[in-house]
Amino acid sequence: MTEEKRMRIIVHPNGPYRVVGGVPLAIQTITPSKEGESWDWVQGRSFRAGPEYFLCRCGKSANKPFCDNSHLNVGFVGPETASRRPIERQSEHLEGPTHVLSDAENLCAFARFCDPGGKIWALIGQTDRPEIRDLVIREAAHCPAGRLVLREKSTGKVIEPELPPTIGLVEDPALQCSGPLWVRGGIRVESANGVPYEVRNRLTLCRCGVSTNMPFCNGSHASIRFQDGLV
Ligand code: FES
Repeated sequence: MTEEKRMRIIVHPNGPYRVVGGVPLAIQTITPSKEGESWDWVQGRSFRAGPEYFLCRCGKSANKPFCDNSHLNVGFVGPETASRRPIERQSEHLEGPTHVLSDAENLCAFARFCDPGGKIWALIGQTDRPEIRDLVIREAAHCPAGRLVLREKSTGKVIEPELPPTIGLVEDPALQCSGPLWVRGGIRVESANGVPYEVRNRLTLCRCGVSTNMPFCNGSHASIRFQDGLV
């Protein structure tokens, strides 16, 4: 089996994420446009993590991003409450002239790439204008959580960015906080009992410990100003 096929993330009950298969790990920072809105991702420091490692899920480790067993000391409780329904069925679908936008709001990681140009929900109705269409494609593709997924209306083809199988440690300087684990490139996420979640090209896992949609991020890190101390 190739390394990529072995890659997976296992959610330990009230404990960390166990990452197997030598998944590369690096900081990913949200960087702004000149107007100050979320515009691009910039990769930062990489971590030598080895073939198997444990990432903090409770937000309390003194050795972030890795687990140091603080979840035991603080009595972390993080039950997996997320729906197992296919994301397609969790989403609302907004139809524009050339594309359809699927929106699973409960997965929002609050990265705000959907804001520039007047917000993607308004822009989807104007995709017959090429410059707006390009912006909509860009905004959906930059959404780390995969909350936003775009399809071509005529073919039904899903538009996905090419992402290598990696984990990003999200940093959000504009909000002065750290964000979720950005799981990229179709790495399988499963519960401790082996039941997998839908495999996706983009998803975000909570690492601040307070999401109400565990194991996924729901943007709560922004309200508590979660800090991982890495930048
Ligand atoms: S990291 Fe986003 S809600 Fe915890």
